[in-house]
Amino acid sequence: MKLRRNSEFPADLKLRPDSEFPADLKVRPDFPLLANNPGLHYLDSAATSQKPRVVLDALRDFYETANANPHRGAYALSVRATECYHQSRVRIAQFLGVADSDCLIFTRGTTEGLNLVAGSWGMANVSSGDEIVVTAMDHHANFVPWQVLAMRRGAKFRVCELTPDGRIDLDFLSGLLNKRTKIVAFSHVSNALGTINPVAEIARLVREKTDAILVCDGAQSAPHFPVSFDSLGVDFYAFSGHKMLGPMGIGGLIGKREMLEEMPPYQTGGDMIEFVHDDRTTWNVLPHKFEAGTPNAANAVGLAAAVEYLDGIGMDRVRAHERALMSEAQKRLAVIEGLHIYGPPASERSGVLSFTLGDVHPHDLATILDGEGVCIRAGHHCAQPLMRRLDVPATARASFYVYNDESDIEALVAGILKAREIFGYAPV
Ligand code: ALA
Repeated sequence: MKLRRNSEFPADLKLRPDSEFPADLKVRPDFPLLANNPGLHYLDSAATSQKPRVVLDALRDFYETANANPHRGAYALSVRATECYHQSRVRIAQFLGVADSDCLIFTRGTTEGLNLVAGSWGMANVSSGDEIVVTAMDHHANFVPWQVLAMRRGAKFRVCELTPDGRIDLDFLSGLLNKRTKIVAFSHVSNALGTINPVAEIARLVREKTDAILVCDGAQSAPHFPVSFDSLGVDFYAFSGHKMLGPMGIGGLIGKREMLEEMPPYQTGGDMIEFVHDDRTTWNVLPHKFEAGTPNAANAVGLAAAVEYLDGIGMDRVRAHERALMSEAQKRLAVIEGLHIYGPPASERSGVLSFTLGDVHPHDLATILDGEGVCIRAGHHCAQPLMRRLDVPATARASFYVYNDESDIEALVAGILKAREIFGYAPV
């Protein structure tokens, strides 16, 4: 199946009222890397975001005033480190609408969170003949762990197809679901197309036809609009700190308490135990059962500072800002001859814009844009099954966040026009 090119759905170009949202955030000075590089147009936030000064300060402050191993010392400094770590969990849980903060397990990021569910819940509950469903738009991190689980347990691995404009085909999904379906894993937002998936509708379909658990990859949603796990309707939700202004190496898995309590540990070692005997070991309570080894306390503190910063802006405003930029970018790019945009209209996508330019390889395009100070990602975006369906080896991807403004769109457009010229296309 081939997705439609933008020229085939001109209705998208009659801009909806999105463009009436002002892209009025002016927070670039809060980000040292951007403030120190005025000519840099960073359009790769779907890969990783830049960090505001408050996050860098929080990291430094932790190491300068509170650094000790949490949960291990009886001395005041270790107690302070433990308290910082605990308070960070409470703050991040609040940001993501989780009333019971012990149900937020810190991980290295989304990938680890999804592997945790596959390795623990999956290995304990999936057996031969069961079925696992993912979608063709999923990132490899939400595809491969389930594929491997299916192979290990002798289960069927089924891939839900997409509609021509890059959404999950709900009819196709419905046709895949049955009483043997044990897991349905999907992305809240596609990292390659930006499609915002209808979680409530998917959850309703799955609950109606199966007893499966729902696992949601939140890597591209938590940073960009309000998310409340408790009302989302899924059983597990994984996210990454580094895409939401926080440090690399910290993220989380949120799960329902009754499931997390029943699940076996994912990794074993220090801190996740209750009692260790020569012949057996019992497990610590949540969240510690899933956090073996010294935790990444400093980065948890950094991530808590990041969500504090995002809340200071307001997630509705973050979303409105990105929608305005997305509308403008989509409008400006769509009129460039030979440029094809993949995915749904701006109003139904997050701040991600995937495109190709004629037969110019996206890597060459990204290199030319880099020469103009514009950072975009080019490649398969860890979504090879999707690229196959798009019938391209790669796309160029520009992704927006709070610190972007119209000057970034100007630079992107100018860079693309330059690339057209270099590759011998007629001027637009
Ligand atoms: N998952 C990240 C991306 O989409 C790395 O770029």
